[in-house]
Amino acid sequence: MDPPSHHRGHTRSGSEAHGGDALDDHDSRRAPPGLELAEISSATYAAANALVVKPEQAGFVAPIGKTLADADAYPECLFRLAIVADQPVGYLLLRPAHVDDYRVVSILRLMIDGRYQGRGFGRQLLESALAWIDTFVPPVDLVRISAVPRNQRALLMYERAGFRRMGIEDGEIALYRPTAHIRPR
Ligand SMILES: CC(C)(COP(=O)(O)OP(=O)(O)OC[C@H]1O[C@@H](n2cnc3c(N)ncnc32)[C@H](O)[C@@H]1OP(=O)(O)O)[C@@H](O)C(=O)NCCC(=O)NCCS
Repeated sequence: MDPPSHHRGHTRSGSEAHGGDALDDHDSRRAPPGLELAEISSATYAAANALVVKPEQAGFVAPIGKTLADADAYPECLFRLAIVADQPVGYLLLRPAHVDDYRVVSILRLMIDGRYQGRGFGRQLLESALAWIDTFVPPVDLVRISAVPRNQRALLMYERAGFRRMGIEDGEIALYRPTAHIRPR
């Protein structure tokens, strides 16, 4: 799989983080600035550790500390920050696996910091994750994601991105989306 090296070192793609002025000054009525995925680095570590959802969303996703610990403990997992205008705004954690004869990538965690929600970044983060997964070699067949039933906002976002509800798994609604690789032409 490519680029699957699980690495939390000091390199990353994209520009280095600073105060995030451009993002804070951005007029939210305009199209959102571009979002990129980047490995965590010494330059982004402090801002990444400050990422947090709104208090009422605390049960929806594991905090950044646990997510980074999981990324260390499970080397097959892939962690990426979502960077907008040089500022970390969220993160995701993927886990590739084989299920029967299929290659499945689970999006285990996905979040946008409460300060930056409602500006289109969640959708961009999901789309960036799907585009990245499409580049994996060998190709991925299915992408899995899940959410608790009361997380309607996330569930709607996933369905609008082409995920379909397939039942309850581990107490959450599990949704799957075939990649272009196995979608009928
Ligand atoms: C779910 C989450 C990632 C969405 O991020 P976001 O940046 O706020 O989402 P966006 O602004 O891209 O909006 C996504 C969709 O939600 C809708 N939306 C935005 N704000 C909303 C609100 N306050 N209430 C309901 N829907 C809303 C948007 O209309 C958009 O729909 P569209 O794609 O049809 O346009 C974010 O709310 C979050 O991190 N939540 C807490 C953690 C979480 O639940 N993670 C998922 C765990 S499974």
